[in-house]
Amino acid sequence: MSTESVDRYYPGLEGVIANETAIANVEGKEGAGGLEYRGYSIEDLATGASYEETAFLLLHGDLPTSSQLREFDGRLRSSRTLPLPLVDLYRQIPSSIHPMDVLRTSVSVLSHYDPEVNAPPTDHAANVRKAERMIAQMATAVAYRERISKGLDLVAPREDLDHSANFLNMVNGQVPSETMRRAFDLSLVLYTEHELNASTFSARVTVSTLSDIYSGIVAAIGTLKGPLHGGANEEAWKVLEQVGSPENAESWIQDALARKERIMGFGHRVYKTGDPRARILKEYCTRLAAEVGDDRWERIAEPIEQAVTSQKNLPPNVDWPSARLYHYMNLDIELYTPIFAMARVAGWSAHVIEQLDHNRLMRPRARYIGPPNREIKPIEQR
Ligand code: SDX
Repeated sequence: MSTESVDRYYPGLEGVIANETAIANVEGKEGAGGLEYRGYSIEDLATGASYEETAFLLLHGDLPTSSQLREFDGRLRSSRTLPLPLVDLYRQIPSSIHPMDVLRTSVSVLSHYDPEVNAPPTDHAANVRKAERMIAQMATAVAYRERISKGLDLVAPREDLDHSANFLNMVNGQVPSETMRRAFDLSLVLYTEHELNASTFSARVTVSTLSDIYSGIVAAIGTLKGPLHGGANEEAWKVLEQVGSPENAESWIQDALARKERIMGFGHRVYKTGDPRARILKEYCTRLAAEVGDDRWERIAEPIEQAVTSQKNLPPNVDWPSARLYHYMNLDIELYTPIFAMARVAGWSAHVIEQLDHNRLMRPRARYIGPPNREIKPIEQR
């Protein structure tokens, strides 16, 4: 029996420092809930870096030079095709199965066809290459399964389009406007990393046994799916649809708060004075609403945001505006969380690689509260 006392108990691990990391800092410069990736503020990255540059930053530790970006981007663009058995599998999986469940399966299948499937789990360089392939292939996987489940022809990846434009083209069958492309790319930059959130922690715990990066990413996808985490962006859209019109917003939210309902897209375990990502995305929602010529959803969202923030002291998190952003891009609501996952795979992979580079098995304790010292009886006497 360990001599260490188990009287320190933190429900939900709230406030527990489980790792040291050089990847993201949610305290930010001000120390009051800013977000930095490898020391760069999210505000600067949002205006100054593409998703490709940000993914490189997370995986390699610094922003790329022009030649490094050209090579990295070239590797992503040439890795977008999927193994044919995976495309065939999409035709077997019932179209009613949620895309997050199919994405979990997809990453598992991708691991079977990875050219370095037998590389040692701790091989840093191989893990970076695997991460790059997952970044490219997960986007194609989400788009292909969407088209097949809707009975639509596949739109092949195009190497002349960047990551965001290519994804939107594969899903919608048309190259997006520059405003749409830019807004989507920004959402990927904001979604790609967030320190030790539940899905990242899940990936790190998984590989802390010296399991492989694909197993870590599959575990993370399963964790992200939950509505308390990544699944909240899909639930946030359902709130807006349920309210339906700006005229209903105030009465709807007052009823919901009176019933002590959990309003999806609000609150955060770490950010108590506001999620910096939500602030940035809200601006783009206004722009896209103007581009599509319909500000109805903005006029529904605003009174809800005001009420929950002021009456519950719970500001919106990243999932509240991202739901509207993806609606303006004509994306199916069930794609919202898979998009979160295909962005976050760069952050998850960086954490997996960091864990495997300086590993210690993660094995916390539990306090036993069940019945003590029971005597076993023969089955006839039970
Ligand atoms: C993400 O961790 C990360 O970094 C995650 C993430 C990332 O980038 O990886 O930022 C992405 O997951 C964002 C969060 C998405 N989830 C949601 O929007 C779901 C709705 N939000 C909540 O369920 C909640 O706010 C959490 C789960 C996000 C955080 O919850 P905590 O820290 O566990 O807080 P709690 O559930 O203990 O709530 C504290 C109080 C409670 O009231 P009391 O019971 O004490 O009276 O605040 C209330 C809660 O009822 N509360 C809410 C609420 N969130 C908390 N009340 C109404 N609506 C909400 N959304």
